[in-house]
This record gives sequence, structure tokens and C-alpha cells, in this order.
Amino acid sequence: MKLPDLGLYGKSVLRLADLSDAQVTGLVDLAIALKARKLAGENLVDPLLKGKNICLIFEKSSTRTHCATCVAVHDEGGSPEYLSSQDIHFGKKESVKDSARVLGRMFDGIMFRGFKQKTVEDLATYSGIPVWNGLTDDWHPTQILADFQTIKEHFGYLKGLKLAFLGDGRNNMANSLMVGCSKVGMDFVDVCPKELAPSKEVLAIAGEGAKRNGCKIEVSHDPVAGVAGANILYTDVWASMGEEAKFQERLALLHDYQVNMAMVKNTGNADPAKLIFLHCLPAFHNNETEVSKECGALEVTEEVFESEFSKVFDEAENRLHTIKAMIVASLAK
Ligand code: CP
Ligand code: NVA
Repeated sequence: MKLPDLGLYGKSVLRLADLSDAQVTGLVDLAIALKARKLAGENLVDPLLKGKNICLIFEKSSTRTHCATCVAVHDEGGSPEYLSSQDIHFGKKESVKDSARVLGRMFDGIMFRGFKQKTVEDLATYSGIPVWNGLTDDWHPTQILADFQTIKEHFGYLKGLKLAFLGDGRNNMANSLMVGCSKVGMDFVDVCPKELAPSKEVLAIAGEGAKRNGCKIEVSHDPVAGVAGANILYTDVWASMGEEAKFQERLALLHDYQVNMAMVKNTGNADPAKLIFLHCLPAFHNNETEVSKECGALEVTEEVFESEFSKVFDEAENRLHTIKAMIVASLAK
């Protein structure tokens, strides 16, 4: 396969803010090409990551990011090694800086999931190999690539669409979607209570992209007016990993921001050709989880989650193709 030169060879991906607009759209297009390549079985003939050893360091739980990384690396002939923070000395008996220097001598790349953004930055600085951010408290860049792939597969394009994010307007998902939309020319509205509004720093980063690409980045505290004209309704859990103690407080703050059929109608686009529903997952859409068995659906109703608007499982599958695109762009020529 002839790979496009995205200028990412040997580089890390720690935040979408660090990528150019062309790198973001280029990774989405590469993911679409790699998805077709897997379907045709071409990865088995000419694997792009042969001989590459990839380490996964995960301080937080994961289903999609963990599995997508392992399958992506296997698909292209490489070898993944999963290390939870319980398995290694990382940050406990050994500094991040020392662990990074050891891992950099053995592996070709590191997928990190954890708490502080500084940890993933230190890993990249001291390991000397490409490091990919598989979620920190501040950013979740690989998720947004999968979201954009799903949107492009449905609508055929990104620029000019409008995405409304509802919920915790200052978490890793809201931050990353806002910056991502600004880079691909999509209008973005962060629909959230004022207590959970995004930071000035993230708004400023997105503002620069919006100016370049002629799109709007807005914050609305009105869950009815805020979603008007949206083509993508997007939500996330109300309390992120590490924020479990804030669960009750968030239920009260975010009650009116639930994605339900009334909200779908409020977009004015209640037609699956004009509107889709996305969620990075995992989601509380019924009472079938340990967390939601008492409270039932939270950020999205079962009706919307299971509706024809919902593309959440296409989106989950696309984590595989977009993570693969990113690793290939960093490690294959
Ligand atoms: N969306 C996402 O990152 O899922 P996981 O937490 O399962 O990796
Ligand atoms: N905001 C969520 C995203 C999970 C994929 C969290 O950090 O837990």
C-alpha cells in the first residue's frame, strides 16, 4: 500500500491541537483506506507494522481503546504488549522519566491512557519513540478521529456540518471535539451548564482553527436553543473516570441535558439523512450496568441510543481503523 506522507513519521500524537488541519483530515482518510484494505484482506499480504513492538500503558480502564490498539497492531503484523499500571513500576517505584527511557529502548511506540496530560508528555519526551494519547483527563484525540470517520462515512463530508456536544462541557471529549471541529471546518456548540463550561485556553485554541476554516465555535447553556440546526448530537458520561465522587452533583447539574427524542426534534433535523447520534461509549442508556441500575438512563435515553439516528457501534468499530491509521502514520513509510 502506498502511504500518504502526513508528516507524522517518528512523531507522537498527544493532542489534536498539535496536528495541522491537513493531518487531521489525512488521518481520517487513511483510516477509511485501511478499513477497505482490511476488508479486502490486503493487510495479510503486505503488513505495514511487521516487526514493530507496541506497548500499551493503561492507568484507567478501557474496552475500545485497548482492543482497537491490540487488533490494529496484530492486523498489520506487529506485536502489542498490554501493561496496566498494576503490572509495572511506572510512577510508583520508578519515575515516569526512567520507565520511559527503558521502554524506549525496547519498544517502537507507546499507547498511553491515564490521568495527567503531563505524564503522556513526559513519556514522549523521555522515551524517544512515538507516543499516542489514548485518553487523559484533558484530551482524547484518537476518539475524535473515529468520530470524524463515522461522520464522513454517513454524510460524505465534514466541513459545513454542525455538531452539538451535550454534557460536561469541559471534559476530555468536549475539549477534543471542539478543537477537532475547528480543524475540519465543522460548526461546534458546547451545550452545558455554566458550572461545566470549557476553559478559556481550549476556546482560544479552537477559535484559531475556526478563524482559519470559517466555522463557528459556540457555548450555550440552553439545551433547547443550543441544539438547533445540529447534524450530530453527541454526548458522553456525566462523570468521567477519576470523577466518581462527583456523580450525584453531576446528576443534578446535567439532568436537562439528556439526549432524548424531544432533543432530537429540537434540532429541526429529525431525519436520519440529516442527523446522527454519537457517543464515545461506554454509555448509561438503561439500567443494565452496575452504575446505572439504580438511576436508569442518564446522558441518553434507550430510545435514542437504539434508534435509527444512532451510529455508536460504527463509531466504536472506527476506533480500530483510526488508531491503526495513527500508528501506521507514525511508524510505517
Ligand atoms: N471511547 C473509549 O475510549 O472507550 P474505552 O474507554 O472503552 O477505551
Ligand atoms: N469522558 C470520559 C470518556 C470515556 C471514553 C472519561 O474520561 O471517562
